[in-house]
Amino acid sequence: MTAVAPSCQPVPSSAVPGTPAGRGFYARKLAECSAYYPGAVLAPMAGYSDGPMRQLCAEAGALWTVSEMISARGLVEGGEDATLTIGRPYAGEVGRAVQLFGADPDILAQGAARAADWFDAAAIDLNMGCPVPKLHGKGGACLLQTPEVAYQLLSAMCSAVPLDVSAKIRLGWDSNRAVEVAQGLEAAGASVITVHGRTSRQRYTGEADWEAIAEVARSVSIPVIGSGDIKTVAQAKERLKTGVAAVMIGRGAVGQPWIFTELSRSDFVPPSLVQRAATALRHTRLNVQWYGEGRGLKQMRKVLPQYLPGVPADTKNALVRLETLAQAEAILLPLM
Ligand SMILES: Cc1cc2nc3c(=O)[nH]c(=O)nc-3n(C[C@H](O)[C@H](O)[C@H](O)COP(=O)(O)O)c2cc1C
Repeated sequence: MTAVAPSCQPVPSSAVPGTPAGRGFYARKLAECSAYYPGAVLAPMAGYSDGPMRQLCAEAGALWTVSEMISARGLVEGGEDATLTIGRPYAGEVGRAVQLFGADPDILAQGAARAADWFDAAAIDLNMGCPVPKLHGKGGACLLQTPEVAYQLLSAMCSAVPLDVSAKIRLGWDSNRAVEVAQGLEAAGASVITVHGRTSRQRYTGEADWEAIAEVARSVSIPVIGSGDIKTVAQAKERLKTGVAAVMIGRGAVGQPWIFTELSRSDFVPPSLVQRAATALRHTRLNVQWYGEGRGLKQMRKVLPQYLPGVPADTKNALVRLETLAQAEAILLPLM
């Protein structure tokens, strides 16, 4: 077995007298990390980290998973119920943080309580990193311009639920102020902070700045999870040496859930084409159960080619045009 650098910083005990019973999720999960089981978390990704993807990544060994971002206002005022697809857990799901976005403390407090109640969340995460303009004034990375608002939001969420509350930030809006923001969030009650090592202005361009993430990890006493550009296990192991408690993997897990297994198992064998096709088909069937056939297949069009990087162009062209499960089976079963 090849030893890797110990990745997990000591974490505080969850058994602090007076701590609500539901608190301590992150500490318990991070305590599972060791030199032989470095922690890697599935990133929240709108349009991707839904029930089927979370299930495959959890089975593959993700330390925990995070839902797609959910509007707190939508949860509170949307007239939906606990069957809301974007939030509901898959059967038997445990260890999933629910991510909320918003900009109003009362709404976020109510949204957090509702997410805990409806979706059986293990923890609640505040989105402070989404750069899309439509979130202007509604939260996301805009909160990096007014972090004092974010501290109020986080504090309100902590008061509303007996669960860990975390925040996921970028380095800043257009320049790096991540240390200041992380320290403010820690003081407001955050149990964990995830840092995506880009500013909002950068969106997804350039490279994530892992030195800036390491600086945040050194500046707070709560665990910091690092996010950005981890596509291989070698990169994950390298980033774990920066002092973060765990790494987060997003795009690198799309069509590749076994990246979590590879990180934690010394006997990992890369999947064959047959295994890739089998996992792709399982993901497709789970998607059809989750969304129904039309929406489920549409959503898989962008994912399936990533499972099968080496297949001929005409197969890829067929995969991105799928309409029915029967068509998906007709392509994938012969590969198995
Ligand atoms: C398609 C897509 C959707 C995303 N959605 C969210 C989201 O809902 N909430 C969030 O905090 N970050 C979101 N992110 C950011 C990721 O969680 C992650 O921080 C970022 O992609 C960098 O990590 P990666 O290089 O491993 O993908 C999204 C990223 C992508 C590519």
